[in-house]
Amino acid sequence: MRADPLRYLAEELDTLKSQGLYRRLRVLDDEQKAHTSIDHRSVVNLSSNNYLGLTTHPRLRERALEATRTLGVGSGSVRTIAGTMSIHMELERRLAGFKRTEATVVFQSGFAANAGTVSSVLSKDDFIVSDELNHASIIDGARLSRATIKVFPHRDAKAARAIVQELPRERRRLIISDGVFSMDGDLGALPALCDVADEFGCIMMVDDAHASGVFGTNGRGTIDHFGLHGRVDIQVGTLSKAIGALGGYVAGSGALIEFL
Ligand SMILES: Cc1ncc(COP(=O)(O)O)c(C=O)c1O
Repeated sequence: MRADPLRYLAEELDTLKSQGLYRRLRVLDDEQKAHTSIDHRSVVNLSSNNYLGLTTHPRLRERALEATRTLGVGSGSVRTIAGTMSIHMELERRLAGFKRTEATVVFQSGFAANAGTVSSVLSKDDFIVSDELNHASIIDGARLSRATIKVFPHRDAKAARAIVQELPRERRRLIISDGVFSMDGDLGALPALCDVADEFGCIMMVDDAHASGVFGTNGRGTIDHFGLHGRVDIQVGTLSKAIGALGGYVAGSGALIEFL
């Protein structure tokens, strides 16, 4: 019989369990709500990203059903072939209005938006200056871009400036931070990082996955909260948290969005 070439995975699982690092999935047996049932126990749910309760909002349910009835459950193709639908165009137009940018483009997830964007706008001779607690999708995008990654201590804009100061000005340099950090819930040092970007001519990018719907006027996010409109070149958001559904987006200039 053929030996299982993946048997090391079972061994790794055993190691994780013995080290107390194994993550058991908790199963929701009810809707994603504040009071719900997990693993057949009635609980108060303080861990979800459904910040505004939109996942189960009656109007959103109704609109989702209506779209399914009229348009089906999928686009049937990637966007560049035959999968761009009029509702995608309308969604992007509305998101641009929400974010007060020229344009937006939607992705399958916030993860794909970060990874796809960072890896597209930079290449191997460029530099990424990144907060040490930035989301995993930024780190993956940075690795895919093959740019040199420089990490600064959490929220330390002075350290970011010291790094940027040493970088060659003729290369593209991207400063990137989460707007609200996913694990700690604190805010990125955005005003001070924008100052560094302005001073040295860097590209400024903010992942506002957790801030959109929560901070700023009508939930426009941390760029609005800090009054930084026009100073952040690339904004990423997600529809999977406060908006309650699924999908990610990038907001910025018309040229950035057309390029992506
Ligand atoms: C800071 C941050 N950025 C991006 C993402 C990815 O968003 P999505 O769940 O839409 O893939 C998450 C969510 O896990 C996040 O916490």
